Amino acid sequence: MLRTHTCGELRISDINKEVVLAGWVQRVRNKGGLIWVDLRDRYGLTQLIFEEGSGNLSLLEKAASLGREFVVQAKGTVIERAAKNDRIPTGDIEVRPHELNVLNPAKVPPFIIEDETDGGEDLRMKYRYLDLRRNVIREKLQLRHRMMQETRKYMDGEHFIEVETPVLIKSTPEGARDFVVPSRINPGEFYALPQSPQTFKQLLMVSGFDRYFQIVKCFRDEDLRADRQPEFTQIDCEMAFVEQEDILQTFEGLIRHLFATVKGVELGEVARMSYADAMKYYGNDKPDLRFGMPFSELNDLAQGKGFSIFDQAELVVGFCASGAGEYTRKQVDALTDWVRRPQIGAKGLVYVKCNADGTFKSSVDKFYGQEDLRAWADRMGAEAGDLMLILSGESAATRKQLSELRLKMGEDLGLRDRNVFKPLWVLDFPLLEWDEETQRYHAMHHPFTSPKKEDFGLLDSDPGSVRANAYDLVINGVEIGGGSIRIHDRGMQQTMFRHLGFTEEEAKAQFGFLMEAFEYGAPPHGGIAFGFDRLCAIFGGSDSIRDYIAFPKNNSGRDVMIDSPSPIAAAQLEELSISLAPKKS
Ligand code: AMO
Repeated sequence: MLRTHTCGELRISDINKEVVLAGWVQRVRNKGGLIWVDLRDRYGLTQLIFEEGSGNLSLLEKAASLGREFVVQAKGTVIERAAKNDRIPTGDIEVRPHELNVLNPAKVPPFIIEDETDGGEDLRMKYRYLDLRRNVIREKLQLRHRMMQETRKYMDGEHFIEVETPVLIKSTPEGARDFVVPSRINPGEFYALPQSPQTFKQLLMVSGFDRYFQIVKCFRDEDLRADRQPEFTQIDCEMAFVEQEDILQTFEGLIRHLFATVKGVELGEVARMSYADAMKYYGNDKPDLRFGMPFSELNDLAQGKGFSIFDQAELVVGFCASGAGEYTRKQVDALTDWVRRPQIGAKGLVYVKCNADGTFKSSVDKFYGQEDLRAWADRMGAEAGDLMLILSGESAATRKQLSELRLKMGEDLGLRDRNVFKPLWVLDFPLLEWDEETQRYHAMHHPFTSPKKEDFGLLDSDPGSVRANAYDLVINGVEIGGGSIRIHDRGMQQTMFRHLGFTEEEAKAQFGFLMEAFEYGAPPHGGIAFGFDRLCAIFGGSDSIRDYIAFPKNNSGRDVMIDSPSPIAAAQLEELSISLAPKKS
């Protein structure tokens, strides 16, 4: 070993020990005859001290020549520091070297490798290997590592078997576009990278594996956001001989285990809410329950009083922002501008302030008397000091706009604390979703999800109202996981494909293997997959999953460090039987 100790472990009890340290130069402070060098590795920082008069001038000169990020080895004695630093664990000691070896010099890094760096996002991504030297980033990946180990521990303890499934497969219909890989030995044919191992895990249930899991890369060619990467990781799970409740219990267990072991947090009750209620009360299928502000519908109270905007609306709906009654006119106007932005798309915002004296002041006083406004307040549970905010219009769009406003108010009022965790199961999702563009139904989760038995009769008469045995786990407004009880009967799967607009031939060509497997003794089964990157980001208190991925892609799906994607040579294309269409000018 090139070292006897790490840069994070020496303490006062080590004084007088002869040690060898190795690491990167964080900082050099040169006071002429006295030089301090902070040596850094993954474990911490240790101060080296070089003094004139310690009989070794060339050593002092060598120390003076060190630059930031040089890789060095220092052999010396541990001594007590004159001026202690209680901000770091090694702050009571320093090492006085009698030998200093430069193992590798370094160019001046393009940004400062400290928690507060001067490097912008682009630069840090281009030199990601330097970014990863920063404690703040390394700690995020260490958190990810811990979560991975604890996941495996829990799953193994619950008798799940980790099985790897192939990466070069045929398209799985999860709703996004596939990334495809051309096959050289099958000219003109392509593999698809898995959007998830969905069909394989179901086949493993047919094989009798009974409890499967895999921490697995998935690939989806979709628009990127802070919580979406083109390649991401799932904790993918499947169980046989279970009902929905068994799955919810088992995976509440996993989440509880992770919170307890990784964060030291005893997770409270995991709330449950139907999809229908989530939409009705929060305008959103992933409500953030760290704060209240549920929606109240006001159509019966607010219509027919001469305010034509409300009278013409399909829905009049609002919520009470507790404690925001003190908002000034300027602040309320800013909220109005905010909801009018094209990203939100509301036409306007009605507000009612609940004054301390029990009176109301609203933007629609011309149409509504105090008694009207009191009835609104009663419905919303608004009290003196509160602010009621109301939108109107077409139902779905208005709920969505109000949901955005609710989140903004939660943020503005400081109610979205990153150290508070509110998990929620959203249950009873619709089986199908109408797609305006293609004018047909799509599976809301995926085509292998089973409808609720009691709704099965509605499949022909009112497909949109059929509920699925599907569930999502939401934490603090983020969709962390989703799954369902599957169809395990060939006839039912065929019916499902028919409702999704597949002809019998198309269904057979794409999923014949699965339907055939269902004829060889498929047990009832179901499962779930968690977005592992998102789970890490929630644990780390961050909105972006990028910092929890060692080498992420940017918003254009590029890895700017290795410069990918990139063109390939003509010969390579030819070998793959691919001719590129001429570029559109
Ligand atoms: P689903 O499509 O809901 O289900 O995905 C499961 C979870 O994966 C995460 N996720 C993502 N994370 C980062 N970047 C992305 N682009 C991305 N897309 C999804 C989300 C999501 O909840 N096969 C089914 C699971 C099942 O039915 O068992 C599936 O993949 O947190």
